[in-house]
Amino acid sequence: MSFNTGVGTRTAVVTGAASLRGIGFHTAVRFAQEGWALALIDLNEDGLAQAAAAVRERVPGVQVAAFALDVTDETAVTTVAGKVAASELPTVGALCNIAGIPSPSSFLELTRSEWDRVMAVNLTGPFLLSQAFVPQMIDGGYGRVVNMSSVTAQHGGGVFSKTSYAAAKAGVLGLTRGMARELAEHGITVNAVAPGVVDTDIRVGSDDDTERALAAAVPLKRQARPEEIAALFVWLCCKDSAYITGTTQSINGGTYVA
Ligand SMILES: NC(=O)c1ccc[n+]([C@@H]2O[C@H](COP(=O)([O-])OP(=O)(O)OC[C@H]3O[C@@H](n4cnc5c(N)ncnc54)[C@H](O)[C@@H]3O)[C@@H](O)[C@H]2O)c1
Repeated sequence: MSFNTGVGTRTAVVTGAASLRGIGFHTAVRFAQEGWALALIDLNEDGLAQAAAAVRERVPGVQVAAFALDVTDETAVTTVAGKVAASELPTVGALCNIAGIPSPSSFLELTRSEWDRVMAVNLTGPFLLSQAFVPQMIDGGYGRVVNMSSVTAQHGGGVFSKTSYAAAKAGVLGLTRGMARELAEHGITVNAVAPGVVDTDIRVGSDDDTERALAAAVPLKRQARPEEIAALFVWLCCKDSAYITGTTQSINGGTYVA
């Protein structure tokens, strides 16, 4: 199976790429290994510079540009889309909306500001990025959007994070389905990935016992490795996945089976 575009080198835009243990970084590495160029986006400027350097170290010769911004900042998103278009990077062929934050508060303690932020980063961000970059894909004649959801969207929480996260990640499924229908006429596919528990640093403050308990609750008895989620993102962006659109790709070790 090939992970390329079939139409030459394209740039993959990957958000949430700054954490060296995160899904976004591993997705960037996998794209680079498959011959794609990269535009990396994250709020964490220092982490992003380190991530870009780490991708270059692992895949010498890869074209990488890094842009530090908040995915909820519409002006910054529009500006970066313009910078990418004007840069020496190849035409954008894929957008992976991976940046996200959890929601620690239980429903009865959830504040309006936490609700707003969780919705903004996890749901509005993918909307803004997609609207900014999809026109470049249409012009370039090849396009894939993959949005990060979560098993939490499917069973209403319970793995980690609570109601506002479940609502935002369920919103991502609706965004994905709507975009898939509307963009099909342009040959752009849009899919969502819904992981179960993945071994990254997103669960800030979580101790070893909690992490072991999370793994024990998974039918396959382990957490996913970020590389496994990354491979799914990149495959959904390649030419062989051309007939898959509007779907939710579950990757959860059997945590949620429907
Ligand atoms: N780790 C899991 O168990 C798991 C499970 C299901 C879904 N997810 C989702 O996967 C995605 C990646 O999570 P991860 O586990 O790699 O976590 P992570 O914390 O390692 O990565 C998230 C990245 O997003 C960035 N980010 C946060 N807010 C941002 C903003 N406003 N603008 C730009 N960048 C921002 C962070 O700086 C960080 O680099 C998230 O959307 C998360 O909700 C994670």
